[in-house]
Amino acid sequence: MKNFSFYSPTIIKFGEGSIGKLQKLVEGKYERVLLHYGGGSIKKNGVYQQTIEQLENAGVEVFELGGVKPNPALSMVREGIELAKEKKIDLVLAVGGGSVIDSAKAIALGALSDSDIWDFFLGKESVEKVLPVGVVLTIPATGSEASMGSVVTNEDKNQKMSVNDDLLRPAFAIMDPEYTMTLPREQTFAGVMDILSHIFERYFTHTEYVELTDRLAEATIKTVVNNAYKLLENPDDYNARAEIMLSGTIAHNGLLGMGREDDWASHQLGHQLSALYGATHGVTLGVIFPAWMKYVYRENLDIFNQFAVNVFGVSAFGNTQEHVALEGIRHFEEFLKEIGLPRTLTEAGLPTNEFERMADLAVSMGSFGALKTISREDAINIYKLAE
Ligand code: NZQ
Ligand code: ZN
Repeated sequence: MKNFSFYSPTIIKFGEGSIGKLQKLVEGKYERVLLHYGGGSIKKNGVYQQTIEQLENAGVEVFELGGVKPNPALSMVREGIELAKEKKIDLVLAVGGGSVIDSAKAIALGALSDSDIWDFFLGKESVEKVLPVGVVLTIPATGSEASMGSVVTNEDKNQKMSVNDDLLRPAFAIMDPEYTMTLPREQTFAGVMDILSHIFERYFTHTEYVELTDRLAEATIKTVVNNAYKLLENPDDYNARAEIMLSGTIAHNGLLGMGREDDWASHQLGHQLSALYGATHGVTLGVIFPAWMKYVYRENLDIFNQFAVNVFGVSAFGNTQEHVALEGIRHFEEFLKEIGLPRTLTEAGLPTNEFERMADLAVSMGSFGALKTISREDAINIYKLAE
């Protein structure tokens, strides 16, 4: 096990009706709130109204900035920073999914800085001060409600980059599984894939003697898979939605990565598909992960065997390690098929003749990954495998 530090300051209010806790979370602490949201789902399903009521009861002044698009744009972040500075905002409240939360985090960072916000994403500036961010989560997927990251797309440069710092972890997150009932089916399952991917990025590692986090990761993967099947049968199953929502936070708040090296190559490869073609984050991961697994599993046959046996119940008896590892990957692909996610670039309707362009973007800051270091050539090979 590696040495590690763990910091998860986010207050979580979880369960049906937990929006009722918002008033107390802001009352007396904040005065001028920037309410940040997406393209309108919260106005259709009533979440907006319930949020506004709580803020009114808390007696805070509310400024609104809606219209965040999936794979949030730098231009909107810049607009938010200007507004936050002008109105002297003291809390940025994100009501929505990862895109809204990440945009809110970047605004909260830029609001207290004179530097160009993109410099933080390029690693030219370090994070020192950030306004508090609150979250009302409407889609379990990214874990951004408790994570240290913000991922933003610079539309002019086709670059999708992240800034990571503990100061970016939200102050609080309201998580009501009922709020996720209005999600379109594809978003629900893209979210499921994203949650699994955050576990995979930590689970498939060279780090040894991490038995506790191995078992916690396997339990979380199995919980997500079991409850995804339940949602296939009945999308209104509150308990299944609650299990997936909780798993989404656990998958990416740092708990499952304690003491382990983490990878993030598949995220890096997937981000280019969002930057270039606007692909949904979870969809890119469903396409990339099976290909990445097939490309790298020989780097650590033991962990891929453990995955096959402990998660999907593959029998190790009388089988080679190679066979067991590949069976685990096959089961995972089968799961993707059952939940209706594309498993290849072709199935996702993404180009299969631009691998060099994708790879060039992926390695723009150098090679990446931990289980196997991914070079430009490796990136091309993985995209080809995902064809
Ligand atoms: O914009 P609206 O109208 O609200 O619609 C959204 C959007 O179209 C819709 N939606 C959300 N909640 C809904 C709903 N529709 C109906 N009912 C609801 N309850 O869902 C669509 C997708 O929303 P988005 O916020 O884009 O989804 P997600 O949470 O998957 O966020 C994806 C973004 O987060 C980044 C991704 O790269 C991507 O840009 N990530 C952030 C991470 C982090 N900060 O820690 C880690 C992740 O790995 C990821 O990279
Ligand atoms: Zn992700």
